[in-house]
Amino acid sequence: MADTDVHAVAVVHKEAFPRQSESLEWISCNYKAYPRIQYFVAESQGQIVGYIEWLQKSGLRKEVILELEQMAVAPSFQGKGIGRSLIQKSLPLISQQVAERRASLKHVIVTTRADNHAQRLYASTLNATVEATISNLYSADEVVMIARNILVEDNNKIVPGPSDQLI
Ligand SMILES: CC(C)(COP(=O)(O)OP(=O)(O)OC[C@H]1O[C@@H](n2cnc3c(N)ncnc32)[C@H](O)[C@@H]1OP(=O)(O)O)[C@@H](O)C(=O)NCCC(=O)NCCS
Repeated sequence: MADTDVHAVAVVHKEAFPRQSESLEWISCNYKAYPRIQYFVAESQGQIVGYIEWLQKSGLRKEVILELEQMAVAPSFQGKGIGRSLIQKSLPLISQQVAERRASLKHVIVTTRADNHAQRLYASTLNATVEATISNLYSADEVVMIARNILVEDNNKIVPGPSDQLI
């Protein structure tokens, strides 16, 4: 994502999250928080149609706990594989960047409304599983999903790492 994309990303945010407000302010302040927060965008014919926001939790650590804090695809472009592609193409870039400062990814955390189909997307792309459900958090129950010991292979494939018990 570049500075010039902030407005277009805010438009996607506004369309995709009708319960949230002040889209431009939200996207602008997060965008400024690099490297803690990093956005990637999806374009179709020069138009921004989706974005993903990754956030490093609790400091720039050697073993990074990364949160997929938010992602959205413009409603008329949903269901075409753009969300899947945003995850699969941006995570290897983050992983590479983290490696450049001699750190590595440990776990990826993502939360979503318990009834959001995004849960299936996170399970199939990240191998994330539900570890907790928090009742009545934002607008409904929220699930906390974690992809533990995640590995991004040299061919950019995202695979589950060895389980904690085996380490
Ligand atoms: C969640 C979201 C980003 C997914 O992006 P997308 O481009 O529509 O998703 P994809 O087309 O890549 O679909 C990926 C998977 O998600 C699931 N999925 C997507 N749309 C679905 C639907 N309408 N019903 C059920 N599952 C669905 C499926 O598992 C799908 O995989 P499959 O096609 O192999 O079955 C998008 O729907 C969106 O912006 N929603 C509104 C905002 C939001 O809820 N964001 C997530 C919370 S932060």
